[in-house]
Amino acid sequence: MSKLEIDFCGVKFRNPTVLASGVLGVTASSLKNVVKNGAGGVTTKSIWLKEHAGHKSPVMFGTDHYFMNAVGLSDAGIEKAEKETFPEYSKGGRPAPIIANIVAGKIADFGKLAERVSKLDPDIIEVNISCPNVEDELGKPFACSVVDAAAVTKLVRSKTKKPVIVKLSPNVSNIGEIAKACAGAGADGFCAINTVGPGMAIDINLRKSILSNRVGGLSGPAIKPVAVRCVYDIYKATGLPIIGTGGILTGEDAIEMMMAGARLVGMGTMVYYREVEGFGKVVSEMEEWCRKNGVKNVEEIVACIS
Ligand SMILES: Cc1cc2nc3c(=O)[nH]c(=O)nc-3n(C[C@H](O)[C@H](O)[C@H](O)COP(=O)(O)O)c2cc1C
Repeated sequence: MSKLEIDFCGVKFRNPTVLASGVLGVTASSLKNVVKNGAGGVTTKSIWLKEHAGHKSPVMFGTDHYFMNAVGLSDAGIEKAEKETFPEYSKGGRPAPIIANIVAGKIADFGKLAERVSKLDPDIIEVNISCPNVEDELGKPFACSVVDAAAVTKLVRSKTKKPVIVKLSPNVSNIGEIAKACAGAGADGFCAINTVGPGMAIDINLRKSILSNRVGGLSGPAIKPVAVRCVYDIYKATGLPIIGTGGILTGEDAIEMMMAGARLVGMGTMVYYREVEGFGKVVSEMEEWCRKNGVKNVEEIVACIS
């Protein structure tokens, strides 16, 4: 048997698969179910300081090739995480590491969230900087500016002793540069990528855009090459641990992402194609690939490409 157990920012994962933020991560019972089905770790849906309304339905649309969503980061706010999600997930011992994903529209709110979420003892804090900076004149997402990305990272870093990873957006001209700025501000690692785009799809019979928001972030198989390239660029720029996320559906996709530089692999849209049981299937496929290729410890393949 190949060893799939791997350390990420000092936290042990029994295998490299992790539930990506936003998919099945709303309640403790759905998080536990993902672990029961084979995931090595889970990420919460993005947590806001206060309740945050999402967009109107329809908010999701999928084809064989891609998935598009405009959920709009809806969330009940940190109070729900404090009262329900974390206590219930931790009752009787946590089944696997939990990553708390936080999001805000203002830099100062990231600091407040980091302080409060730290008290819930997450294994890792993931900082989603893909939301627009509402204090910025142009409302540009934090992830698209080296200055904003570094400022958010620095503040979060100063408020917690937990490992801090920053979730980056692929919608920038130089992701390595953004990652370097975050690393300089104290990031311990990264999660990449968030959704690509936005994209748009039209129902030609109704002559109407399919999503009520008109545009949405792309995920799923079509974005995998973008994700692999981003992970490669971030690894090259910083050498820090990365949760490679974007379009992973199979064990071989996961191996490819690890070869690009990821230590863990995030999966969200995979659930749409393979259901929650897909986690266990991907893990078995990774094991099978490692066995066939004489890889005794999955860590051997991280950033192994020539
Ligand atoms: C329905 C849906 C909701 C999402 N919500 C969040 C979210 O709340 N926070 C976040 O950081 N990313 C969110 N994402 C992005 C995913 O975590 C992931 O980065 C992206 O979908 C690419 O991975 P995938 O192709 O495996 O889905 C969401 C994605 C989807 C499809």
